[in-house]
Amino acid sequence: MAQLLVIPGDGIGPEIIAATLPMVEAVFKAADKDYSIKHAQLGGQAVDDTGSPYPEATQKAAKAADAILFGAIGGPQWEKLPREKRPETGLLAIREDLELFANFRPAMMFDELVQASSLKPEIVKGLDILIVRELTGGIYFGQPRGIKANDDSTKPGFKTVGFNTMVYTDSEIRRLAKVAFQAAMRRSKKLCSVDKANVLEVSQLWRDILTEEAVNWPDVELSHMYVDNAAMQLVKDPRQFDVVVTGNLFGDILSDAAAMLTGSIGMLPSASLDVNNKGLYEPCHGSAPDIAGQDKANPLATILSAAMMLRYTFGMNDYAQYMEAAVHKVLKQGYRTIDLMAASEQSFGLKRVGTKAMGMAVLEELNGILDANTTST
Ligand code: IPM
Ligand code: MG
Repeated sequence: MAQLLVIPGDGIGPEIIAATLPMVEAVFKAADKDYSIKHAQLGGQAVDDTGSPYPEATQKAAKAADAILFGAIGGPQWEKLPREKRPETGLLAIREDLELFANFRPAMMFDELVQASSLKPEIVKGLDILIVRELTGGIYFGQPRGIKANDDSTKPGFKTVGFNTMVYTDSEIRRLAKVAFQAAMRRSKKLCSVDKANVLEVSQLWRDILTEEAVNWPDVELSHMYVDNAAMQLVKDPRQFDVVVTGNLFGDILSDAAAMLTGSIGMLPSASLDVNNKGLYEPCHGSAPDIAGQDKANPLATILSAAMMLRYTFGMNDYAQYMEAAVHKVLKQGYRTIDLMAASEQSFGLKRVGTKAMGMAVLEELNGILDANTTST
């Protein structure tokens, strides 16, 4: 049985999840798959209701689930809380707790939205990059960390010091490398590893392990790039990249840059996986508190995240493609949430819709595709 845990979260989270869930159910039904759906809390609302951003009930439910479909967390009302109660802490805790070390962040250009990019159309048309980011190690989790008073009288001149540590073990790097090579095999067999090996020992180890692992993947062409250069190349000629593999912090930064190249962060999904392809699936965008509860949010990134879930956790690649095809179709038909109106080449013939209507439009297309493909049995 497929056990799905749904975590709507904060801000627009509940709306985009509500627009997506009927599609997941439609797919499971069409595929005759037994499934159960449970709900849990994470982030700001969880802090308000339980005192913890990652409550115990959520921890239990998350461990029992095969996959988690997640909306978004955070909002201005929680920004002043101490670090252990902040919504982000809940997200980091669930990633660490479930060992979701492999984070897939595709950045793809939708033809209909090419005008939305901050770069010229001829540079971004057809862009299709997959960033594989390490998610449970590196400087986000390394010890020692903290802020402490200078109690060393031999070092005068400062009162307080803040510090974090970038740590990677060979096994952490290797398990991510395997996932990245595998992803490259499914795509154009090009893998670019991004590090800062000219300065950091941790990056030197990163590069050494990637190079070692490459021996097991003779069909994949591995290259290395320093992170500063990678940032530059991303905005200069992004289509040179196919699969990019990198550490936690560099991946956080580069994936935002890559997302914006497509001009449509409201369109981009993500997957965070453990060694057994258990995963947490979430849109790349945040909780957008300014438009929460107004039926304005774009649910397409969440719908595409659900498609990734079908593909990676449930091995239902055909159904993932049906869902993606349904999204492409509604874009072609001119349906646009408000964020995509500005992004479109022209407004003539476009149908401006809210979150619910966008969800309904995709669901209707999906049902058509499911009918056409499942009637033979
Ligand atoms: C992301 C976010 C998170 C991160 C924050 C919210 C903790 O920026 O998923 O990219 O830095 O990983
Ligand atoms: Mg980020």
